Amino acid sequence: MTRTALQDGSGATTRPVLQMRGIGKRYGHVVALDGVDLDVNAGEVVALVGDNGAGKSTLVKAIAGTHRIDEGTVLVDGQPAELGSPAAATRLGIETVYQDLALCDNLDVVANLYLGREVRRSRTPFLNREEMERDAAAVIADLAAHLPRLDAPVAALSGGQRQAVAVSRAALWGSRIVLLDEPTAALGVAQTAMVYRLVRSLRERGLGVVVISHNMADVFAVADRICVLRLGRNAGTFLTSETTPDQVVAAITGSAEVGPRKDS
Ligand SMILES: Nc1ncnc2c1ncn2[C@@H]1O[C@H](COP(=O)(O)OP(=O)(O)OP(=O)(O)O)[C@@H](O)[C@H]1O
Ligand SMILES: [Mg+2]
Repeated sequence: MTRTALQDGSGATTRPVLQMRGIGKRYGHVVALDGVDLDVNAGEVVALVGDNGAGKSTLVKAIAGTHRIDEGTVLVDGQPAELGSPAAATRLGIETVYQDLALCDNLDVVANLYLGREVRRSRTPFLNREEMERDAAAVIADLAAHLPRLDAPVAALSGGQRQAVAVSRAALWGSRIVLLDEPTAALGVAQTAMVYRLVRSLRERGLGVVVISHNMADVFAVADRICVLRLGRNAGTFLTSETTPDQVVAAITGSAEVGPRKDS
């Protein structure tokens, strides 16, 4: 519960960027989250898995500040945090790639990276396009997100390239945590591989990454740790390297109590 680095089982140093405890969220009479815990370390990819309606998107929206939680505590970088609005989450360095990507089709790649956060020339209403282009090109090169042109309208890009724009925007603005809700759901094999690469680049930048996915191949390809939700509750946390897909599926469906289990 402190800012100090901890030792994990492998002896590597870990620094928690997000610690959620006892999170509860109701929609009217529907209990979407009930006493849920989630930990994410800097430079770690955590997959959030579970059946339809398990509460994954609700948990991600709680972190992103779009849905307020009813119960529980949240620490960001070891400090108590109120994630009461998207602006509050943004200020804490939390960025979200939603399933619909929230891109503006008629604008180009650079404009989409800066949507609502444009850089202006000092004391003028005019945009500093050169500075935005320079920083956009740097983040895209750093992520190795292969985009044909920065001045192409995003409507002209493929599904994978659009996903790359959304991930690049998160990398440009997110200083601590990036959340991705089913980033490969609509993608083919090659484009899925590119998204995996982008997610690994985020990890290498030292960000904590949370990826929602229904696809076990995705999960085992990118995640360091897997957090299973079932009916709004924790149903196991697994180190990917010590777990099989069957064990995770068993936890998702509740068909058996399985190990190894590693909480936190
Ligand atoms: N805005 C809402 N209003 C009312 N109920 C909601 C709302 N959003 C989610 N729920 C309910 O909360 C529960 C959790 O939903 P959530 O969307 O978090 O699940 P999920 O794990 O993301 O599922 P999926 O895999 O289908 O995306 C479900 O029972 C769902 O019907
Ligand atoms: Mg969902």
